[in-house]
Amino acid sequence: MTLGLGPGSGRVVEFGPGTGRFTEAILARGVPAANLTLFELDEEFVAHLRQKFPGVTVHQAGAETADRLLDPGVHTVISGLPLLSMPTAVREAIVGAAFRILGPRGSYVQFTYGPRPPLPPDQIESLGLRVNRGHKIWANLPPARVYRFRRA
Ligand SMILES: C[S@@+](CC[C@H](N)C(=O)[O-])C[C@H]1O[C@@H](n2cnc3c(N)ncnc32)[C@H](O)[C@@H]1O
Repeated sequence: MTLGLGPGSGRVVEFGPGTGRFTEAILARGVPAANLTLFELDEEFVAHLRQKFPGVTVHQAGAETADRLLDPGVHTVISGLPLLSMPTAVREAIVGAAFRILGPRGSYVQFTYGPRPPLPPDQIESLGLRVNRGHKIWANLPPARVYRFRRA
């Protein structure tokens, strides 16, 4: 999920960080805390994340509002959201917001446990995206696959 990130990545945003497992991995790659912004809905997780990751900006807000709170030019959006189980309109609002804040070469990284990409083909096309399918991670329980979306 965090492959390729480093101290020079610029601004990174995480959607649905929960307990902060991916947040830890992003920071371990050398992304400065000041360059990382989280969007989490759950009040308890937000309190936990603020305490655990000083210097990281944590918004208690839906990922779909990210473009109201952030300027464009973000390098990468890492998503821990259960995207496939969300209604189509919510999914579109979330990925749409991600691409309104991402820079021209920015990418949206999303894992899924399912056999198909975490966005259906018609939605990938209507959003003007292309997708890169990563290897299946068998060591994950359940096994998961990481997808990277970019502008077509
Ligand atoms: C599967 S959990 C993430 C697990 C996380 N990777 C961890 O290590 O704990 C998904 C998280 O997304 C949050 N969430 C769900 N819908 C959201 C939304 N629209 N915007 C932001 N966060 C959301 C949930 O509160 C939950 O914490």
